[in-house]
Amino acid sequence: MYETPELDPDAYLRSSAIRIHDAEGFEGMRRAGRLVAEALDMITPFVQPGVTTGEIDDRMREFTLDHGALPACLGYKGYTKTVCTSINHVVCHGIPGDKVLKAGDIVNIDHTVIVDGWHGDSSRMYPVGEINARARKLIDVTYEGIELGLAQVRPGNTFGDIGYAIQRHVEAARMSVVRDFCGHGIGRLFHDNPNVLHYGRRGEGATLKPGMFFTIEPMVNLGKPAVKVLSDGWTAVTRDKSLSAQCEHTIGVTETGLEIFSASPTGIFRPKFD
Ligand code: MF3
Ligand code: CO
Ligand code: CO
Repeated sequence: MYETPELDPDAYLRSSAIRIHDAEGFEGMRRAGRLVAEALDMITPFVQPGVTTGEIDDRMREFTLDHGALPACLGYKGYTKTVCTSINHVVCHGIPGDKVLKAGDIVNIDHTVIVDGWHGDSSRMYPVGEINARARKLIDVTYEGIELGLAQVRPGNTFGDIGYAIQRHVEAARMSVVRDFCGHGIGRLFHDNPNVLHYGRRGEGATLKPGMFFTIEPMVNLGKPAVKVLSDGWTAVTRDKSLSAQCEHTIGVTETGLEIFSASPTGIFRPKFD
C-alpha cells in the first residue's frame, strides 16, 4: 500500500523509490550547490606544494561554517574531517591530516555542505604544481566522462544511458571505471536512492524524471578498476597502485534536461592544461 510521506515519515525514509522533488527543493538545492561550488573555488589558490591536506580541511570547514552551512561529512558514520582529500593512487575518501602536497601530485577534494537541510556534494581535481602528461590525460578523460554523462540527463533517458556514456569514453581511452563506488540520490538526505553507476548499458536502469536529484561522480583509474580500503576504514586506493581521478556534480532533472546545482560561479570546475 502506498503511504504518503505526510502520513508516515518513516515509510518515506525507508522507501526505495526515487524521490521527485518540487520547486522548493530546486530552490534549496540551488543554494546548497552554489555554496559547495564557492568553497571548491575558494580553495583553488591554496592547493600548492608544501600545503598539508589538514590545512585544506581547516579552510573548507571555516568557510562552510562562516557561510551558515554545516559540513555534511564531519561526523558522518564516524568520519572526523570536513572534506576528503584523495591524492594520486587514492581513489576516494582520503582523510586530511599531516600529509604535505608536493609538485606533481594530483588531488581530489570532495566536499558536501548542508544549507537549510539541503545537501550540495561536489568534488574536483586539483593539480599540484606541474603535473606529468599521464596525469593530465587521466584528468581530461575523467572530466570528459562526467560531461558525457551529464549530456545524457533528460526525462525519458535512463540511468544506464549515463553509465554507458561514461564507461564507453573511459574504456576507449584504455582507462577503467571504478565499480565499487557510485553516485547517489541526494536532497534532504546525503545518500538517497538510487545508486548511480558510472558504467552500464543503454536503456537499462530507472527512467529519469523531472524532479530527481542525484550526483554523478565517476572515479577513473589509469590501470585496473580494482580498489581496496585501507585499515583506517576509509581510504580507498587502486590495488595496482595506478593513478586515479574523480569529479562530482550534484544535479536535478528538469522538464527539458538538467540543472547543475554545483556549477562553479567562476567557471573553474575543470582544470585546464595548456
Ligand atoms: N562526498 C562523498 C560522496 O560523494 C562522501 C564522503 S563520506 C565521508 O558521496 F564520510 F567520507 F566524508
Ligand atoms: Co557524492
Ligand atoms: Co562527494
